[in-house]
Amino acid sequence: MICQLVGVTKSYPMGDLLVQALRGVNVSVGAGEFTVFAGPSGSGKSTALNLLGCLDRPTSGEVFLDGQNVATLSDDALGAVRARRIGFIFQSFNLIPVLTASENVDLALRLAGVEGSRAERVEKALTEVGLKDYLHRRPSQLSGGQQQRVAIARALVKSPAIVIADEPTANLDSTNGEAILDLMRQMNEEKGVTFLFSTHDPMVMARAKRVVRLKDGEVVADEVRAPS
Ligand SMILES: Nc1ncnc2c1ncn2[C@@H]1O[C@H](COP(=O)(O)OP(=O)(O)OP(=O)(O)O)[C@@H](O)[C@H]1O
Ligand SMILES: [Mg+2]
Repeated sequence: MICQLVGVTKSYPMGDLLVQALRGVNVSVGAGEFTVFAGPSGSGKSTALNLLGCLDRPTSGEVFLDGQNVATLSDDALGAVRARRIGFIFQSFNLIPVLTASENVDLALRLAGVEGSRAERVEKALTEVGLKDYLHRRPSQLSGGQQQRVAIARALVKSPAIVIADEPTANLDSTNGEAILDLMRQMNEEKGVTFLFSTHDPMVMARAKRVVRLKDGEVVADEVRAPS
């Protein structure tokens, strides 16, 4: 088991109201999974991913990462876990504009506390996503699909326990979106990387091995697909 939500609720204060983003969610993600959170806008997908990625803490219930209850960790310790154990891929790529592709990927290694042989690891990670000839380009000099490949390399370079991706294809056209999904699935199958991502796109859902459906902050279905 890599990460787990146990009876998790999350509410956000909005003026005098409390928005209940999650209402008692139980979900476990094991090593090697390729799992998607699906569901309509506002159903709680991003909230659940942020909790599993230790970007946020629950209102009640428990979050476990590598068997450890996240509530027992200080903010600093949680930050260190995040930097070393979790790779993130965002809808809007979130690359640092003044850094080249290599420098963006290298930064993730530095934040994870990796000292030696960083340059080789960076080049290998970018080569694996098909960007060997783009190492020194800045994000503004790359297409959206290429920027998302840099983000995948940045997530994978530190060999994280899990990669969490919130709507990784939402800002890409369907051809680039499919290529990114295929690349993620290839990394899952060939290197055993665990992926947990979200989408409302049926094409993306169709490529997942497990679909957890959320509605109004609750899990309403959890299906494991036959291998395809
Ligand atoms: N920081 C916040 N403050 C207040 N309410 C929030 C906050 N973040 C999320 N919410 C609310 O919590 C609920 C769940 O939001 P969440 O972002 O998890 O949905 P989602 O499934 O990711 O939606 P989308 O598909 O549009 O990205 C929504 O009602 C949303 O308005
Ligand atoms: Mg969202």
